[in-house]
Amino acid sequence: MTEAILLERERGLLTLRLNRPDKKNALTRAMYSRLAEALQEADSDPAINAVLITGSAECFTAGNDIADFIQQPPSDLDSPVFHFMRNLLECRKPVVAAVAGAAVGIGTTLLLHCDLVYVARDARLRMPFANLGLCPEFASSLILPRLLGQARASELLLLGEGFSGEQAAAWGLASAALGSGEAALAKAREMALRFDEMPSEAVRISKQLMRAPDRALIRQVIEEEGALFTQRLRSPEALAALSGFIKRH
Ligand code: COA
Repeated sequence: MTEAILLERERGLLTLRLNRPDKKNALTRAMYSRLAEALQEADSDPAINAVLITGSAECFTAGNDIADFIQQPPSDLDSPVFHFMRNLLECRKPVVAAVAGAAVGIGTTLLLHCDLVYVARDARLRMPFANLGLCPEFASSLILPRLLGQARASELLLLGEGFSGEQAAAWGLASAALGSGEAALAKAREMALRFDEMPSEAVRISKQLMRAPDRALIRQVIEEEGALFTQRLRSPEALAALSGFIKRH
């Protein structure tokens, strides 16, 4: 069976590549566990200076696997998705993301916790949590209104409006928007490899300083959202919306 998460090592860069093309890289519990483990390994391996999270030049990820959401929903903060996101948040090394094509749900949320984000101009980002009977996750209800203002954040989180890579860069959600998926992936790799030439301790301390002021609040919001999200997954609203997706496919 092909690995749904490919790990690639290039000098001091570890790339985590989502590789489930037939399902638009939708993330399963097993994939979250592998990602969580890889992030932990990268964090403790002194030879790794940066992590790159990416999909293909056509698709980043369609978000959480919807069948998994119905059959094996995360039930508490010990579930694989929480391990993955906790390790992303706590990673002391710089994490770079490269996004092309669709980045839905957690595919967009996780970008809020990466240090550098390169997107294709025509990438399609969306957080349709409320549309699916769910609610925001992993501190997006805190971070997005702060970054974008209440009105624009409400379009994204209450209406579930989609937006392009170009908009993401203009709003400060991404570092830069590139002309194609290939260009976004190449730029992200180039920038991530730059950390190999940098004084790694200084980079780590700088990241820690940038993250420290909000860390406690972000952890607290993640717990509050997580409790509601796991409840919402069992709600009639969510079950109707999620099984609607399954029936259409
Ligand atoms: N979970 C499980 N399977 C998914 C999936 C998901 N989140 N997203 C896509 N897939 C599967 C489809 O079921 C389909 O599988 P099939 O060929 O066996 O029927 C395959 O991936 C291709 O999806 P399709 O919708 O035909 O591709 P598209 O290019 O037309 O659209 C998306 C791509 C990502 C825009 C669309 O698939 C989508 O909206 N997915 C759901 C996103 C979502 O709501 N995620 C959860 C957020 S909380």
